[in-house]
Amino acid sequence: MRVILLGGPELARAALMLGLDVTAEHPDVALIDLRDPTALSVAAALPPGLPRVVVANPDQRALARALAIPLDRIAASCEPAVLGPLVASAVPPARPRATRVVLVSSARGGTGRTLLVANLSRRIAAHRSTVVLDVTGTGGAAWWLGVTPRPWSDIEGLGLELTAEHLAVVAEEARPELRVIGGAPHAPSVAAALATTRAATGMAELVLVDAPLLADERTRALLELADRSLVLTYPDPASRGAQDVAAMPALAWRIASQAPGSPGRSSPDVFFSLPRDEAALASAIASRGIARGRLGHAYDILAALVTEDMASR
Ligand SMILES: Nc1ncnc2c1ncn2[C@@H]1O[C@H](COP(=O)(O)OP(=O)(O)O)[C@@H](O)[C@H]1O
Ligand SMILES: [Mg+2]
Repeated sequence: MRVILLGGPELARAALMLGLDVTAEHPDVALIDLRDPTALSVAAALPPGLPRVVVANPDQRALARALAIPLDRIAASCEPAVLGPLVASAVPPARPRATRVVLVSSARGGTGRTLLVANLSRRIAAHRSTVVLDVTGTGGAAWWLGVTPRPWSDIEGLGLELTAEHLAVVAEEARPELRVIGGAPHAPSVAAALATTRAATGMAELVLVDAPLLADERTRALLELADRSLVLTYPDPASRGAQDVAAMPALAWRIASQAPGSPGRSSPDVFFSLPRDEAALASAIASRGIARGRLGHAYDILAALVTEDMASR
């Protein structure tokens, strides 16, 4: 998405984190930091039809309202996780918004796929209707989301001519606009996994798949349906070996899991780094809820990136 920036370095950093294309030529949206003294005068010269997202202090909100900025386009800070969804929703889609299939996998187990799926789905469902498909047969995602979906054997019993209406019957609602399909104790057949994913696109704007490993035949098949894949990588030697020989899917974002250093975009071949954060994990487990703290903040940003990716294609 093309954005024109009126503000300081904080706004520029947020745009970089969100992968926005910063330009003064034919922008789709203007990002204006009202806390920057020069921004307001330059903003007055922008074309009237250009959608605006503004960052404002509490005492500047009245000013923003006087400039006819709707309340849902006013952010309290330059935080990428806050700005991302506002920017994504400011631009009307050129065509009806297509459902996106986003698949989460990795070269080896225990990298944090299920934790990522649970945390992304909770965050994204606040803005976009979401179906989580657990293709692992472990019921792990459902545990995090506090529901017990019907086992895959029930879905297999419905046959391969599945429709969204069939799936609505076997989906468990975890939150408003967040449903979960696929329970323990067995993983689905390749055919059932494919039929379910296709049908699930008729139920929500995002189909988020907790997939088995890259080497699994279900994952290989589902990658053909995915618009984006998130491949978690882990920095120990055996995992590096597994990653080197694994076939990296097209359209993959490599997500470094449990990485040292700060969250964000860290190196050219890593799209985003998630920190190791035992404390955030312990309290998430205790409340069976979303991770907060440093890890939660990283999930917030990644959720904004996925939302933005959905809006821009
Ligand atoms: N960012 C993290 N910080 C600390 N521990 C983590 C993190 N991500 C994952 N873990 C640990 O790894 C374990 C496996 O995570 P999980 O999401 O179940 O992986 P997968 O689904 O890839 O097998 C979790 O139970 C947790 O103990
Ligand atoms: Mg898992």
